[in-house]
Amino acid sequence: MSRSFDEVIDRSDTNAVKYDRTTLKAFFGQEDLMPFWVADMEFAVPEAVTKALRKAVDHGIFGYSTRPDSYYQAIIDWTQKRFNYTVEKEWIGFTPGIVPAVNYALQAFCMPGDKVIIQQPVYYPFARSILNNGCQVLDNTLVYENGRYEIDFEDLEKKARDPLATMMILCSPHNPVSRVFTKEELSRIGEICLENNVMVLADEIHNDIVFEGYEHTVFASISKAFEDIAITCTAPSKTFNLAGMQASSIVIANPKTRERFNRVLERNSIGFQNPLSIVAVEAAYRHGEEWLEDLLRYLEGNIMTIKDFLSRELPEAKLVEPEGTYLAWIDLSAYESDGMKLEKTMAQAGGVALDGGSWFGPSGNGFLRLNFACSRSMLLEGLKGIKKGVEALK
Ligand SMILES: Cc1ncc(COP(=O)(O)O)c(C=O)c1O
Repeated sequence: MSRSFDEVIDRSDTNAVKYDRTTLKAFFGQEDLMPFWVADMEFAVPEAVTKALRKAVDHGIFGYSTRPDSYYQAIIDWTQKRFNYTVEKEWIGFTPGIVPAVNYALQAFCMPGDKVIIQQPVYYPFARSILNNGCQVLDNTLVYENGRYEIDFEDLEKKARDPLATMMILCSPHNPVSRVFTKEELSRIGEICLENNVMVLADEIHNDIVFEGYEHTVFASISKAFEDIAITCTAPSKTFNLAGMQASSIVIANPKTRERFNRVLERNSIGFQNPLSIVAVEAAYRHGEEWLEDLLRYLEGNIMTIKDFLSRELPEAKLVEPEGTYLAWIDLSAYESDGMKLEKTMAQAGGVALDGGSWFGPSGNGFLRLNFACSRSMLLEGLKGIKKGVEALK
């Protein structure tokens, strides 16, 4: 039996970054905060994963390891079943995380000075990676209207036409605005990129966390032409709370693209994988589906809790309707337009650590990102903290 999502699990003394006092101090100026920031979950993994890990630990030897066929097959089966997309074993590469894959892709396919399209407000390591690799950010800012985010396709076309635009990093589903892009939206993105010779790195790490009424479409699954320009990044990191295992699958169908990507991996000696992560990934994909369905229903309950609380206690706060991801994007600009002040006050007066909206680009100013992958009791405490923070703004 997997553990209940209501269980509050003590993570102090487990080296969890989210709770690390030095890290909290560095980001928020305070150590003693309830953490709703780093995107991992407060839930124990499916029992089948713990069981497989226990067996591997009991064996007692943790030498260099290979990925067996059954590992690849588990990924292939999952992708087929959940997304109706057929991938071949040869297409699947390994990197120790998706942010590393983004960096390796930039090194493989972009020259210093090239421009890379992103859609801010977006997961901030994208911009950092682009700049760290000597490239430039081309921001196709998402349009926020009537509480919802839409893609500005006219602007995207303009940006893609730039002769220096070589790549688009697509966050799908989107962190932090929690959009699950429709097949039509993804198709328009793909057509624009195809026409302008822009390759698409689709970061689909949140692909499994999609709520009732929405459906994730794998960008590369839409057409052979899209598949040909795509690098698809997936992992069980978010789905099964395995981020610390650092096991990502980078799916590249185009053999030339794959070869160039693999050469960068080789130059950096990326190849062997942590033996425990091999076991965990396979067990999660093979046996975790029922757990995932239960998780999604629990998270939907948490969304209701957030909505109820905000409408009762903070009526001017606007929750952007979460379509996917366990990250709630809350517009608090009616209470405070100075993003820095908003972020600081939450920690200082509210005792809660949340990602500040401005971290995700200037268009995130006035928002906070709340990680709601926690027990309902912890979530309620966090919401009370946000309310206290807002009251201190007055
Ligand atoms: C969109 C997105 N990509 C990548 C990551 C992190 O990936 P990794 O830990 O595999 O580098 C996150 C984590 O929050 C994320 O939200």
